[in-house]
Amino acid sequence: MKQSIFITRKIPDHVLNQLQEKYNVAIWDHEEIPVPRDILEEKISEVDGLFCLLTDSIDSELLQKAHKLKVISNLAVGFNNIDVKASTEKGIIVTNTPGVLTETTADLTFALLMATARRIPEASDYLREGNWSTWSPMLLTGQDIHHATLGIIGLGRIGEALAKRAKGFEMNVLYHNRNRKPEIEEQIGLQYASLENLLKESDFVCILAPYTNETKNMIRKEHFHLMKPTSILINTARGGIVNETDLYDSLIEGEIWAAGLDVFEQEPVPLDHPLLTLPNVVTLPHIGSASINTRLKMAEVAMSNLMSALDGEKPKYIVNAELFLGGE
Ligand code: DGY
Repeated sequence: MKQSIFITRKIPDHVLNQLQEKYNVAIWDHEEIPVPRDILEEKISEVDGLFCLLTDSIDSELLQKAHKLKVISNLAVGFNNIDVKASTEKGIIVTNTPGVLTETTADLTFALLMATARRIPEASDYLREGNWSTWSPMLLTGQDIHHATLGIIGLGRIGEALAKRAKGFEMNVLYHNRNRKPEIEEQIGLQYASLENLLKESDFVCILAPYTNETKNMIRKEHFHLMKPTSILINTARGGIVNETDLYDSLIEGEIWAAGLDVFEQEPVPLDHPLLTLPNVVTLPHIGSASINTRLKMAEVAMSNLMSALDGEKPKYIVNAELFLGGE
């Protein structure tokens, strides 16, 4: 008998077709509506595999209902939407999609840094709204990117890829990470810094850390106090890493100069969110990995993780590898 899976959103056709050949597939076939909780609860109790997104909260309460679930394949590198501990306790494999989105997310991070520094959305609106009456020396002036200091918080794959881009702009690159990476420091020409020094010295602070209990609310009031009044904060990781109220206050008080945000604590961000009222905040709807090629590759990786797990093999990108300890 075929195993059964549930897919929580519309996915590329060729991936869906391959899954349908092998499994009994139920799908929440919508592009822009997340699967309602009651449907997720019903389906999770029936299936062997779950193909889900970062918008689905796979918490311990939901997992109680998973009677025969073997694998949760998340279409994202981040997996903060999944209670991994509870999954592991139930012997459920959790997988993610690192690697394939590294360069695309680094591209977007650098694009957001440039757009924020050079006020690109604001300048474009200025023109379209009919305000462009003449060229003027200090009109819409921003911050230089070349030769500035970039501080990267979280030097994983994406952080490294961002550092390489920054080197092309002759930037001085600092990083702060749980553990130092001497080889990468040498290879790319980076300097390790304490969080405090990184915040004090950087013109651009980019958050690229994973969202965990340790990084939740990691950047708050006391950290903004340390930053330069000309500095820019960029976050393409997860919204909850930065305290949004403190960020708003620091922008209003001129403690920092601007922010570029691809992620928010609550997504979609409510349209009356105070940060959306500020012209020096450039906002995006969580599109870090959103290139056509990369999203197709992510779907393929998520599919192959799911298939390996359902075949009883260790998936290539497993989050709770301890489930296979001793079994290899
Ligand atoms: C991820 O993969 O975690 C991103 O946030 C979406 O690509």
